[in-house]
Amino acid sequence: MNYLEMNREQLLALHDKYTQQYQSFKLQGLTLDMSRGKPGPEQLDMSEAMLTAITSNADCYTGKTDCRNYGIVDGLLEAREMFAEILGVEPAEVICGGNSSLNMMYDTVMRAWVFGVAKGEKPWSQQGQIKFLCPVPGYDRHFGICEQFGIEMINVDMLEDGPDMDAVEELIKDPQVKGIWCVPKHSNPTGVTYSDEVVRRFAALKPAASDFRIFWDNAYCVHELYFDRCPQLLNLMEECRKLGSEDMVYQYTSTSKISFPGGGVSAFASSERNIHHAKKLMSVQSIGPDKLNQLRHIRFFKNAAGVKEYMKKHAEFLRPKFEVVINNMERYFGDSGIATWNKPTGGYFINFNTLEGCASKVAQLAKEAGLILTTAGATFPYGKDPKDCNLRIAPSYPSTSELDMAIRLLCVCVKLVSTEKLLAEYKD
Ligand SMILES: Cc1ncc(COP(=O)(O)O)c(C=O)c1O
Repeated sequence: MNYLEMNREQLLALHDKYTQQYQSFKLQGLTLDMSRGKPGPEQLDMSEAMLTAITSNADCYTGKTDCRNYGIVDGLLEAREMFAEILGVEPAEVICGGNSSLNMMYDTVMRAWVFGVAKGEKPWSQQGQIKFLCPVPGYDRHFGICEQFGIEMINVDMLEDGPDMDAVEELIKDPQVKGIWCVPKHSNPTGVTYSDEVVRRFAALKPAASDFRIFWDNAYCVHELYFDRCPQLLNLMEECRKLGSEDMVYQYTSTSKISFPGGGVSAFASSERNIHHAKKLMSVQSIGPDKLNQLRHIRFFKNAAGVKEYMKKHAEFLRPKFEVVINNMERYFGDSGIATWNKPTGGYFINFNTLEGCASKVAQLAKEAGLILTTAGATFPYGKDPKDCNLRIAPSYPSTSELDMAIRLLCVCVKLVSTEKLLAEYKD
């Protein structure tokens, strides 16, 4: 039954019931963590052969490179070729680095901040208060980078096919707007894959700032859950090439959720002009990345097709976890009208919305009963969800039985907080 249509007595009865259920959950002393999108132990174990992909001196050579030694600031050619194929760009447009693409994003912001995005462009730090557009809900660590640099963040609504492009096209008329954060495929946390029209509108943007950049964080580019219905993301770089706007794109990905987050390879892709600029600055910072780890990845995966095939095995572990969450939500919320959620076809998250003003209380109650969720509000700049209704569910790490328990507890918390709110607002 729809909670919004219940009378006071019905709501009071449910409130009592969920208070009791909550108390009994609390007595169980649970310790469950659904706060971050970490691969589960079974997924990590799958890459065991990566650990022995290089075992001798002879293994450390590619055709002409001794990977044990110094050099190659942009990474092994074979690694750049593999990422180029994954991202649909040219190897000369890719730099491969250490295990963290977030690190690469931070470094691109830092270089723009200190040196400017290209020769002749003023550093962002010398241009007064600069701004970034942030599709919301979005990835908290993107927002963390802006916050650390004092870059003002402007919320842009995420719609069903990507960010609200009418708003984006209007906001980039401001020359202080220098960037936008995008997770274009299986978006964190909404699961949205941008439509062809949205990608084309990105390629066609005409920002007032010549140093505006699209931060295209393609973290979930090969992370399908259902291979018979995986959404296709139009290639932004190709669309930009048609219009001569390739310099506007900074693209990122990594093998964090393919091999090991603690020992993967990251990639930064952009126009050759941007790559040349970045390499020149990076060559002062480092003589080269960990090429042995890059080589391990090449030996293990061979190529982009190898990665995609491997991801099918990951999906076998992940699909049941997502399904436990979704099935429980359907079972416990049905048509109650107090919660909405998405059914992702890939990526790492389920996006969950409570009634307005309930999310932080739900997260707090869950925590007090032993279930850690991503902090309410974290999916918005400055940690402020204007409607206090969004929660990000990360089902990848716990086991299915832990997830079953976690979601049942979450549902009780949501029902308890919702009945409390509806009772407080009740009018005869
Ligand atoms: C959208 C997005 N980008 C980047 C990252 C982190 O990537 P990396 O491990 O390569 O730093 C994550 C991790 O959750 C993510 O969700």
